[in-house]
Amino acid sequence: MESCRGKQQQEEEKKNNDIIPLLTPYKMGNFNLSHRIVLAPLTRQRSYDYLPQPHAILYYSQRTTNGGFLIAEATVISETGRGYIHTPGIWSKEQVEAWKPIVDAVHAKGGIFFCQLWHVGRASNHDFQPKGEAPISSTDKPLQELPADGTSALFSSPRRLRTEEIPQIVNEFRIAARNAIEAGFNGVEIHGAYGYLIDQFLKDQVNDRTDQYGGSLENRCRFSLEIVEAVANEIGADRVGIRLSPFGDCLECGDSNPEALGLYMAKALNKHGILYCSMVDKRTTKCGKKCDIPQNLLPMRRAFSGTFIVGGGYGREDGNKAVAEGYADLVAYGRLFLANPDLPRRFEYRKKIRSHIPRIWKAATEENQSKNKLMRTRTSLTKPSYSSSHSLEDGQFESSSYLQNCFGTID
Ligand SMILES: Cc1cc2nc3c(=O)[nH]c(=O)nc-3n(C[C@H](O)[C@H](O)[C@H](O)COP(=O)(O)O)c2cc1C
Repeated sequence: MESCRGKQQQEEEKKNNDIIPLLTPYKMGNFNLSHRIVLAPLTRQRSYDYLPQPHAILYYSQRTTNGGFLIAEATVISETGRGYIHTPGIWSKEQVEAWKPIVDAVHAKGGIFFCQLWHVGRASNHDFQPKGEAPISSTDKPLQELPADGTSALFSSPRRLRTEEIPQIVNEFRIAARNAIEAGFNGVEIHGAYGYLIDQFLKDQVNDRTDQYGGSLENRCRFSLEIVEAVANEIGADRVGIRLSPFGDCLECGDSNPEALGLYMAKALNKHGILYCSMVDKRTTKCGKKCDIPQNLLPMRRAFSGTFIVGGGYGREDGNKAVAEGYADLVAYGRLFLANPDLPRRFEYRKKIRSHIPRIWKAATEENQSKNKLMRTRTSLTKPSYSSSHSLEDGQFESSSYLQNCFGTID
C-alpha cells in the first residue's frame, strides 16, 4: 500500500515537472484556448492590390493548431490608412470576400482568428493616398527617416487631422471591425502599437495638438479609447483586443513617460471591458538584443483586468517563465512563428527551434530595399512574383527596411 502511494506520488511529481506552462489551456473570455502560444500579427506584404490572396490560406493554416490563437497581419481599415504595398485591407466588400476562405481554413483546423485593424497615419506617402493628398496624423510634423541612400523622402509630410474629422476615422475603425466579423474573424485587435496612427496620438514625441486630443495624458489617449468604445459597441467588447507599445519608439514615436502612458491605458481599457490587451516588451521595441524579461510591463499587467498578452523577443524558456510567474496570460511569437510554423509542437517536444535565418533576412531585405524605394516613390501596382526562395512554406520572410530597423535580429 505504502509503495503504491509512493509510486503515485512520484508519478504526480513527474507530471508536474513535465508541465509546460505555455502549453497549458487558458480560457480567454468565451474562447477556450488549448495553449498560450499566440501567432503575433506579422505584415507579409503579399496581398496584391490590398486583397488578401489565396496563398495566405496555406500560411495561416500551417500555423493553426486546434484551440490556438492567431492574429492576422495588420489589415488596413480605409484608403487613407495605406502606407505599404501589398498589405491587405478590410474596407471593401471584395476584401471581406477575399478574407473568407482564409478565415475558414483557420477555423477548419480549430483556430481562433482575430484581424488586426491598422491605420498607418503619417507612415505613408502621397502616392498611397486618395487623390495624392497628404497622409493624415495627429500632427503635421514629418518623419525624418530617409531611405538608406537618402535619395527621396520615404514619408510625405502629414496633414494634422482637424478635430471635427476625428469621428470619421473612429467610424472607419468601427466599420472595419464589422467587416472583419462579416469575413468570419472571431474578433479584432486594434493596432495601437509601433508608431502608427493611434500611437501617433498616444505619444508626446509626436502629438503636439492643442485640442481635446492633445496635451494631457487623458487627452492623448482619448482617440484610442473612442475607437475602443466604438468597436466594442459594434461587435461586443468580448471580441475586442488592443495592441500597445508604450515603451516603443518606432517611427520616431516615443513617449517621455511610457510607464504612466501604459498604466493609464491599462486602467482606462478596463472601463470598456475588452477581451485582451497585448503589449510589446521593451527589449525588442528597438534594441535588437535579447535580454532577461525586463518586467517593465508588470504594473500594466496588474492593472488590466482582462487577458494580458506580452510579446517581443520571447523564446521557449522565458515564455514559460512569463506564464508560470503570472507576468502574462499568453505570449505572442513573431519571428519564431514565421520560421517555425509548428512552433507549439516544437516547444512541446523540445525540438530544435529554427532561428529566423538572418542570412535570408538580409538577402530578403536587400531585395526589398530596392523594392521599397520603388514603393515609397511611386506606388507599384504590379502583381508581386515570389521566387521559390521566398515560398511561404519555408518560414523565411520579407521585410521592408523600416521593419528591419525596428525589429533587427535578436540572435
Ligand atoms: C516581418 C515583421 C512584420 C511585422 N508585422 C507586424 C504587424 O503587422 N503588426 C504588429 O502589431 N506587429 C508586427 N510585427 C511585430 C511582431 O508582431 C512582434 O511584435 C515582433 O516581431 C517582436 O516579437 P518577436 O521577437 O517574437 O518576433 C512585425 C514584425 C516583423 C518581424
